[in-house]
Amino acid sequence: MLSQLDSLKAQALQALYTLTEEAAIEAFRVEYLGKKGHLTSLSAGMRDVDPALKREVGAKLNEVREAITQALSAKQEALQAAKDAAAVAGLDITLPGRPGAGQGSLHPLTQVRDQAVRILRKLGFVLAEGPEVETAWHCFDALNTPEDHPARHPSDTFYMPDGKLLRTHTSSVQIRTLESVKSLPVRIISPGAAYRRDEIDATHLSVFNQIEALYVADEVSLADLKGTLEFFFKELLGSGTAVRFRPHFFPFTEPSFEIDVKLEAKGREARWIEIAGCGMVDPAVFEAVSRTRGDELLHPERVSGFAFGMGLERLTMILHGIGDIRHLIENDSRFLAQFA
Ligand code: PHE
Repeated sequence: MLSQLDSLKAQALQALYTLTEEAAIEAFRVEYLGKKGHLTSLSAGMRDVDPALKREVGAKLNEVREAITQALSAKQEALQAAKDAAAVAGLDITLPGRPGAGQGSLHPLTQVRDQAVRILRKLGFVLAEGPEVETAWHCFDALNTPEDHPARHPSDTFYMPDGKLLRTHTSSVQIRTLESVKSLPVRIISPGAAYRRDEIDATHLSVFNQIEALYVADEVSLADLKGTLEFFFKELLGSGTAVRFRPHFFPFTEPSFEIDVKLEAKGREARWIEIAGCGMVDPAVFEAVSRTRGDELLHPERVSGFAFGMGLERLTMILHGIGDIRHLIENDSRFLAQFA
């Protein structure tokens, strides 16, 4: 009888587990706990139990009844809760789901970043990273940017209480990479966030993204820089894209250039628009990193390199004809859906 009770309990709990409908749950109650149910008929068997065992069997009987009763009321409560919730929401919880409804897609900035990385990977560039909370050394000093340079002023740059800062450009990753690299050549691409104390308007954000590239080897020429950038922009913007270099100044490159691309728009005169900064790595940068490295691998007379950097938001706006940079941070699904 004891083992019969045990298997009845197991059988009951298993049967209950799969039930979801009210009528089936009520039928279960009648079958197990009803006047003519399994438990009642087993209780009737108590009469024939050996008096010495009566106590034990009685306790078991109570335990099984208790377990089934409890499982049943938990089931009934769950069913009632689901019905209440559905009534409130006006839902039919038995309907199948709708796959694909409200499915998201990659943000246009992510798409353009991935595209840029893919293009430079073809040329052997690999991803590199650096911290966004950066030292003034990595963001400015090692990049040959003097203490009194306006970009370092607290009105332009966010400083932390401990003197660190939020990097104002991804060029800091050049220094991070050069300080730790073990051999040449170095070919890195580093996309990431940058921060400036700019008033937010149609063309400025205070938190934005840049893509940085750096190539350092025995002998790197301006022709390598030009070839790389022409390849990059033709791949990204179309094979007909014209690229122009305008002399410029950056503390960490010499010579330095700004790069314009020519945009052809239907019914309008083609325009040159500025898209990136670039140049040959200034020997002062190699000197600075050689000092912290304490070796000769990057001695300014033994190596040369080029670097370029550009704003990811600006690139995305040009690529997609987006007129206001704020669209890129508002996450309006009507805007984002156009890039799905
Ligand atoms: N860091 C520069 C900027 O933020 C861009 C740049 C990168 C220029 C690399 C030259 C070389 O404007």
